[in-house]
Amino acid sequence: MKTYLVTGAAGFIGANFVKYLLPRRADIRLIILDKLTYAGNLGTIAEELKDPRVSFVKGDICDVGLAEEIFRENDIDYVVNFAAESHVDRSIENPKLFLETNILGTQNLLDAAKKHWTAGKDSAGYPTYKAGRKFHQVSTDEVYGSLARDYEEPRELELSEHVARITRGRTNLKTYGKAMFTEDTPLDPRSPYSAAKASADMIVMAYGETYHLPWNITRCSNNYGPWHFPEKLIPLMIRNILAGEKLPVYGKGDNVRDWLYVEDHCKAIDLVIVRGRPGEIYNVGGFNEEKNIRIVRGVIAAVARLTEENEAYSRVLKTDRQNINDRLISYVGDRLGHDARYAIDPTKIAVELGWYPETPFEEGIEKTVRWYLEHQDWVEEVVSGEYQNYYEKMYKNR
Ligand SMILES: NC(=O)c1ccc[n+]([C@@H]2O[C@H](COP(=O)([O-])OP(=O)(O)OC[C@H]3O[C@@H](n4cnc5c(N)ncnc54)[C@H](O)[C@@H]3O)[C@@H](O)[C@H]2O)c1
Repeated sequence: MKTYLVTGAAGFIGANFVKYLLPRRADIRLIILDKLTYAGNLGTIAEELKDPRVSFVKGDICDVGLAEEIFRENDIDYVVNFAAESHVDRSIENPKLFLETNILGTQNLLDAAKKHWTAGKDSAGYPTYKAGRKFHQVSTDEVYGSLARDYEEPRELELSEHVARITRGRTNLKTYGKAMFTEDTPLDPRSPYSAAKASADMIVMAYGETYHLPWNITRCSNNYGPWHFPEKLIPLMIRNILAGEKLPVYGKGDNVRDWLYVEDHCKAIDLVIVRGRPGEIYNVGGFNEEKNIRIVRGVIAAVARLTEENEAYSRVLKTDRQNINDRLISYVGDRLGHDARYAIDPTKIAVELGWYPETPFEEGIEKTVRWYLEHQDWVEEVVSGEYQNYYEKMYKNR
């Protein structure tokens, strides 16, 4: 049996990871540690919390005593650290919180892992560890900085022979530029958020170098999918479209991001934890670069089509169907320091572990929009703060 400490699993990707893992791996136990900030919602993992293999601890990854207690009371095999302040806009408003959670929180977990996983010392004085332990840090492509957007229109992405064999089913792979981020690209973070994430990566690697602690880091591109808090681009657009409200798009909307369906990301993390070589970084990308404005137009089109096709979906609309069109788009002043383009080269994880992003964007965005049309109660709950009441009800007297 393997015991995972999964932090931040009441948030978007962590919750999807728990949902991915539980039906696929029988012999596991999950301890979820989450502070339940505005971005963390117990309603998101309500079903999973009923599973006897799952336990939940409300708390801060920066809390030294709590981390110590969790490690003392549980024989943890893997730490999977999703917990973070994750919204770039908020990092521009309040950088300090990002440094505290993303850097010091990670270091606190590393310390607890090092202490409780140490088995002895080798002849050179380095700690040795109990077998099979690993610290997995969930990082981001944003640590690499920004790439040039060389093409106005996307071009067909040429894959190496190896990767082409692995991605056999995928077509319509595209890119807006000549360069992509590889694991060897130097770190060059530009926002307080990405600087904090880069610092966290470096402290993870430092624990590897200085104390020989076994680790992996995955750096992924923009995730999208179900259970995404409606402050990020895609869920925010869906919410506003349904309400007939303006869709704020930064600058000219020509910043390029690579979009990765969240379940594909979760699969990558699972693979890296189980089969990744300790001390290695793996880039995880979607092979789907697109300009923000085209993502927004695609979401508008998907909502328009699905609400037309399905009477039940159209009842979710708070506006007339005729209002769902590109006239909702409203260009607003650009984000400070807005990175032009991110693009991930996932050759390493493809070749070593056989992973590739299985979900084409057209399929992923349709699934995502359908999910939001079917889960408006969840959206209302997370934006209203109702989940706080849920927490009190579920956990106060336990
Ligand atoms: N969403 C993306 O597209 C994306 C892309 C690349 C990397 N990432 C990384 O993936 C991870 C998860 O991202 P997400 O989008 O799910 O984030 P999220 O904001 O949806 O969720 C973060 C979770 O962490 C919890 N949390 C925050 N501070 C905490 C603290 N001090 N102690 C304990 N829990 C705390 C929150 O309550 C929440 O449940 C983050 O580390 C992020 O940097 C995300």
